[in-house]
Amino acid sequence: MSFTGKDVLCILDFTRNDLERLFRIASSKFEGDELRGKVIALAFFEPSTRTRMSFETATLRLSGNYIGFGTTQATSIAKGESFSDTVRMLDAYADVIVVRHRLEGAAKLAAELAESPVINAGDGSKRHPTQAIIDLYTIWREKKGIDNMTYGVLGDLRYGRAARSFLRALNLYSPRKVYLIAPESLRPKEELLDSLKMPWEFANLNDILPELDVLYVTRIQKERFPDPAEYERVKGSYRIDTNLLKNAKTSLAVMHPLPRVDEISLDVDKTEHAFYFKQAANGVPVRMALLSEVVA
Ligand code: NCD
Repeated sequence: MSFTGKDVLCILDFTRNDLERLFRIASSKFEGDELRGKVIALAFFEPSTRTRMSFETATLRLSGNYIGFGTTQATSIAKGESFSDTVRMLDAYADVIVVRHRLEGAAKLAAELAESPVINAGDGSKRHPTQAIIDLYTIWREKKGIDNMTYGVLGDLRYGRAARSFLRALNLYSPRKVYLIAPESLRPKEELLDSLKMPWEFANLNDILPELDVLYVTRIQKERFPDPAEYERVKGSYRIDTNLLKNAKTSLAVMHPLPRVDEISLDVDKTEHAFYFKQAANGVPVRMALLSEVVA
């Protein structure tokens, strides 16, 4: 389907064909002028490094301009202006609005208010569609395909929107198996488990590590815990290091949407397993492909 003028709110808005078209564009996209004369609004109501700066870089590499904010402290939101009024203004100024927000549904609300297309850059603890596209693209490119592999998804599967979006995205493909590896209190909600179409099971990392082709690691989402004491109980409960990886396939891809805190030891960075910096770099071509499709 064509993405021209469309909102990008959820990874399930995409079909496998849509994604593969984006992957092909991303793999050949280094510059262009598809955004010449266009203004992209980057409305980041929640902290971000990679997502915001890769949207900025993608815009500049396509000869576009951007406006926006990375913290609400410098905007009238600090004076009490509402989310809706802020979005209405951005709609008047820009051709595309990219929204990140602490609350689930913020991007959808923005899309209802704005005429310009809205791209969800992560809202609440559920959706982060552009990250999921980057994750799949990285696997597609580096592993030459996404199907028929064994995946482990480790960490905060309850509050982590990157992990949850990645799991939903895998529903568009045919993994051989997905292992969910999480402390009891960070296991996904039933709603997500019920939606999974591939064979899956809960596991301990040590038991299944030798089987894995891809290990997707995530940060414990400290800021999303309703009870800080619960965070204290689970923090530091898993850590990937080179010693542990001795039991893994040499081709195992260790992925992470970043930022990492302490869940991947720095000694993994120099190994062949470290896919996370490539993954972060892929944010630029993937967001270039997406922006060029949305404004086409
Ligand atoms: C993630 C996010 O903000 O959801 N980061 C990202 O966009 N790459 C993951 C996280 O904060 O843990």
